[in-house]
Amino acid sequence: MFGKKNKKQEVQVDDRLRHIAFIMDGNGRWAQKRGMPREFGHSHGGDTFKKIGRYCQKIGIKYMTVYAFSTENWKRPQKEIDTLMKLLDDYIEDAFREMYEDNVRVKFVGNLSVFPESVREKMAKIEKETEQKPFTLNIAINYGGREEIVHACNKLIKEGKESITEEDVSASIYTAGQPDPDLIVRTGGDIRTSNFLLWQSAYAEYYFTKTLWPDFSERDVDAAVAEFYSRKRRYGGV
Ligand code: FPP
Repeated sequence: MFGKKNKKQEVQVDDRLRHIAFIMDGNGRWAQKRGMPREFGHSHGGDTFKKIGRYCQKIGIKYMTVYAFSTENWKRPQKEIDTLMKLLDDYIEDAFREMYEDNVRVKFVGNLSVFPESVREKMAKIEKETEQKPFTLNIAINYGGREEIVHACNKLIKEGKESITEEDVSASIYTAGQPDPDLIVRTGGDIRTSNFLLWQSAYAEYYFTKTLWPDFSERDVDAAVAEFYSRKRRYGGV
């Protein structure tokens, strides 16, 4: 079974669960169920993201990745894109700084070249300021797994490589230097990967729940963690 239990907190993970990733799905449906615009769901989803980030850190997770905006999300209505970008900008200005106090190392993963220079500078500044912190939080933004692999290969070509190894690709993807996710949680009921962490997820355990992201709670993390520890990871062996 997983980790130690004590009175103050329910679970503590160990080295088998260093990295957890979330596909934070269901914000739009959560809002629509309440007769509210989809943007309302994203705003509540942002609060859930902060709560779950704090909790993962508390139970001993070392790396957390969230899918905040995919390369396909640009197909959404402009108003919704604007809300998500505004939310990101607010987080860059404010919440990620609060997290700094909380020992969070912030890293933006994805093709950042589409963002205005001013935004990219702010992202780079936060990354630099937090780089020594022990809990890594990857914000996947304008992220696509295929784009990431192609980007890594092009980088290796530019470096003059004529043939490449798995290690080369691992060292050239956006999460280079980090352990692959052990557990990937998707909320919102759909059972698919949606181009998330394609390279890194080769041996990840998946946990799918119908719970919509804004309703996702610390107890839901406990359930996902318990499920993770009940599985036997064989990595292709027996
Ligand atoms: C998917 O739900 C969610 C997103 C595309 C955005 C996720 C962003 C947040 C939770 C805000 C957190 C912000 C930062 C900066 C980390 P959906 O809109 O596809 O929901 P639906 O499937 O119900 O339509």
